[in-house]
Amino acid sequence: MSRKVERVITAHRQLEGGGFVVRRPFPTGGLALVDPFLLLDEMGPASYGPGEAKGAPDHPHRGFETVTYMLEGEFEHEDSAGNRGVIAAGDVQWMTAGSGVVHSEMPAGHIRERGGRMHGFQVWVNLPARDKMMPPRYQEVPASRIPQAATPDGRARVRVIAGEALGVRAAIDTRTPIVYQDWSLDPGAVVEQPLAEGHQAFVYVFAGRADVGSGGDSLGDGQLGLLGPGDRVRLAVPSGAPVGARLLLLAGQPLREPVARYGPFVMNTEAEVRQALADFRSGRFAQIQRT
Ligand code: FE2
Repeated sequence: MSRKVERVITAHRQLEGGGFVVRRPFPTGGLALVDPFLLLDEMGPASYGPGEAKGAPDHPHRGFETVTYMLEGEFEHEDSAGNRGVIAAGDVQWMTAGSGVVHSEMPAGHIRERGGRMHGFQVWVNLPARDKMMPPRYQEVPASRIPQAATPDGRARVRVIAGEALGVRAAIDTRTPIVYQDWSLDPGAVVEQPLAEGHQAFVYVFAGRADVGSGGDSLGDGQLGLLGPGDRVRLAVPSGAPVGARLLLLAGQPLREPVARYGPFVMNTEAEVRQALADFRSGRFAQIQRT
């Protein structure tokens, strides 16, 4: 059965971290999570002047994984486990916060000083209860190691961040099995992408307009389509369309566990969230070492 769009959610704009603009389809009042996904933020696209670009200075996380994928610009990150690096256009950084990290995510120094473009995504993937207190870990995948593929007519192209599409498979090792794909569709593109039957799945369009699912739904820029049951999804752009589309396809095995969340802490119970706050406030999260 080919999946249909069951609900359409239009992303709202809000300020995050030190004051950078994101488009956030969820969590919102109408959609708290798409188990196992807790949050999707589209950072930008934004053009910053000198001194304007803002990021998210030192802040904690516990109980889930963050996946950052950049399309334009560069983020610098550093964390309490001693990791440091730059996430440039096309790169992916996968951080398992586990029992807790403090990290900082800032536009690269040259963008903060001289201005520039920033565009990227951050997804939060929940950890199962048994892994919430695991030691933190990082996976950094440069753009050159992200597999790409295209349909024989070249009209649909995909970058496979997690999972498998058009015969290529991503190398990333995820605690919670997920699919994460960045599709570029030209007018006339048609693909049927297999999806595991039990996975919850959604499509987020971030440029142009695409036909999503077998129900004839057309999603525009900034719209998320939550997919119903089935073992595949149809993605297309009509051949007469003036422009193509860019979209993310995400799917994951739902955890079906209680979710208690407060800002950067996502646990199973309110008591665990209070514990996370207490641990953070009493300095039991390590700090970023700066020399
Ligand atoms: Fe963060």
